[in-house]
Amino acid sequence: MINLHEPIFDTEDENNVLEALRSSWVSTGGPFIDKFEKSFAEFIGVKHAISVCNGTIGLQLSIEALKIRYQVFKSFDIILPSLTFIATANAVVHSGGSAKFIDVDENSLQFSIENLRKYILSNYEYKADNKFWINRVTFNRLLAFMPVHIMGWSAAESHLLKGISEEFNLTILEDAAEALGTYNLDGSHIGNSSLAAIFSFNGNKILTTGGGGMITTNDSEFAKHLKHLSTTAKNDNLRFVHNEIGYNFRLVNLLAALGCSQLKKLKSRLVRKKEIFNLYSKFLNSSFLTLYKQQNCESNYWLNCVVFDSFNLREKALTTLIENNIQARPLWTPCHLQPAYKTNNNLLLKSTEDMWNRTLSLPSSPQILNEEVKMISDLILLSISGK
Ligand SMILES: Cc1ncc(COP(=O)(O)O)c(C=O)c1O
Repeated sequence: MINLHEPIFDTEDENNVLEALRSSWVSTGGPFIDKFEKSFAEFIGVKHAISVCNGTIGLQLSIEALKIRYQVFKSFDIILPSLTFIATANAVVHSGGSAKFIDVDENSLQFSIENLRKYILSNYEYKADNKFWINRVTFNRLLAFMPVHIMGWSAAESHLLKGISEEFNLTILEDAAEALGTYNLDGSHIGNSSLAAIFSFNGNKILTTGGGGMITTNDSEFAKHLKHLSTTAKNDNLRFVHNEIGYNFRLVNLLAALGCSQLKKLKSRLVRKKEIFNLYSKFLNSSFLTLYKQQNCESNYWLNCVVFDSFNLREKALTTLIENNIQARPLWTPCHLQPAYKTNNNLLLKSTEDMWNRTLSLPSSPQILNEEVKMISDLILLSISGK
């Protein structure tokens, strides 16, 4: 079986975990946590990094802290693309909000600033006195929008995100779960120009701690509050006094140990990921498909995707790969079509549905062999040769 994305560990990873085990600092405190947060912030180029137990929780915690910042105690809206892993939407709902789905850019996986603009203008009214937007039907406040950096490609150039956020006086929380190691064209890491960006260290990500996540921000007050909320909002370590209803959302030292050693290898891993992308792009030579790419960033090439000319071609390739024990996968069912979000099922998001129907993710583990990339590509080309 060739899997979609496997983790890769070496003796340094094993030694770090052993060191944490033997130190007996296995839980929510310990030196690896501080070290991981510090080196992660340095890697991204931000002031603060707050570790959490997974990416979904990172998203939820950021929304919870934002609600408190703006004193929003009833339901609210957050706008996000429908074409994302359901966790993005679930985090909104878990924190008491309503997830509002918009379409991606035409023929791409990219967040559409134009669709965001249209959605706000047709569904919300600006309350100039309060300086926020109110849903015309439900009167919910629009709290934020959440671009998602899909498959390791940038959701949109950071100056464009910043521009629309200023134009509408609206906070950005970036779902960067899949985009560690993705850079803007000016060389800055994605996610450092919004209020916060959230990364995932799930087993299938470019850096893994088994499970885990990180929130990065340049806002020192927000960072302090995130840490406080994630640590049961404890003010007094001796007498256990808590001034807010916080959460136990922290990453444990045992896993942060893995994060520290994994982070050291990230740069070289990114080089290999780019090689894999280049191999696929060399081998997948056909006028009936394109290897997905965008011009607006230097991707981490996390998960290579092929966009076929039609749903039928995609299905043929998928069937052939599965028959040959190769794990390929269509994109997630878009959120607006999920049974879990059934009140949205009648939405028509044409580009989202079109891309979902024609795209296939291909095995992209750093340790995949060049011959395997060739074999997978040949099988795809063969499967669609009779069209
Ligand atoms: C786009 C996206 N958002 C959120 C998440 C949630 O992260 P986690 O699995 O660490 O909770 C993931 C991945 O797992 C993801 O791919």
